[in-house]
Amino acid sequence: MKIAVLGSQGQLGRDLCPRLPGEVVPLTRADMDLSRPETISPTLETVRPQVLVNCAAYNFVDKAEGEPEAAFAANTWGVRALARACRVVGCKLVHFSTDYVFGLESGRTKPFAETDPPGPVSVYGLSKLAGEYLAREADANNLVIRTCGLYGVWGSGGKGRNFVETMLRLAREGKPLRVVNDQLCTPSYTADVAAATASLIRAEAAGLFHLTNGGACSWYDFTAEILRQAGLSAELTPITSAEFGAAARRPRFSVLSNAKLAGVGIPAPRPWAEALAAYLADRRTKLNT
Ligand SMILES: NC(=O)c1ccc[n+]([C@@H]2O[C@H](COP(=O)([O-])OP(=O)(O)OC[C@H]3O[C@@H](n4cnc5c(N)ncnc54)[C@H](OP(=O)(O)O)[C@@H]3O)[C@@H](O)[C@H]2O)c1
Repeated sequence: MKIAVLGSQGQLGRDLCPRLPGEVVPLTRADMDLSRPETISPTLETVRPQVLVNCAAYNFVDKAEGEPEAAFAANTWGVRALARACRVVGCKLVHFSTDYVFGLESGRTKPFAETDPPGPVSVYGLSKLAGEYLAREADANNLVIRTCGLYGVWGSGGKGRNFVETMLRLAREGKPLRVVNDQLCTPSYTADVAAATASLIRAEAAGLFHLTNGGACSWYDFTAEILRQAGLSAELTPITSAEFGAAARRPRFSVLSNAKLAGVGIPAPRPWAEALAAYLADRRTKLNT
């Protein structure tokens, strides 16, 4: 099997490529730019993969509020072009989406299943939700995977470092940490998401799947656990989303249920605190090499 990966230099793409079966062809924006749909078919027709995994996205959640065209160009219209081009060459599209397709339902406390109605509260979430539908509509065999709060040893390709690294750096610099405590989700380690994605591809899964680490926490809880596991102390204060004042609204609750994975024989990924411990160990190995 030949599998091409777009966004191969992002944090998820870099963890996914070595875990995929068969021949893997890593692609970057230079090969295929989602914002320039005319670049898609020529590369696809040259590479001719059986599966194309799209890890690329416009990921600037706050910036998207002021430049919706850029977010929609990559996350919606780019994905539509990709899905249509894949259909033409008979290639399965595996596409990543986000927990930010939720948020509209206030007072929610039960993890979201794939069958729950979405309702985004940001331009980014809306652009990703539209992309999901276009990926699924193009071919029922396509696979869309919603994940959440990614951090990986390679750092975000688009944004630089990840949340864990930012908290570790600020704590080491002796800076006070003021972290949002009213958004509940599941921070997820890209190595775990990548491993389960490879299993979903091997299982020939299609349709919509949720895939995160287990459990739920706020970003404040997550930071407290990062500091505890790293043996660091810092002045850590819980704040509200309103006090933080980000440009984009975020869901107050966007925990995703992983239950559907069991139906295709894939074990749910480990709990978020265990995944964090694995990340901290893996980053030490990376820093020492
Ligand atoms: N990060 C999160 O917390 C999170 C949460 C939920 C879901 N997701 C989803 O998970 C997937 C992977 O995210 P990630 O965190 O691994 O992202 P990432 O590290 O920021 O990597 C994204 C990659 O996409 C590439 N890219 C951006 N725009 C492109 C375009 N127009 N054409 C081609 N390539 C383009 C970037 O390349 P350049 O370096 O050239 O810009 C980068 O390599 C995305 O679909 C994202 O929406 C992420």
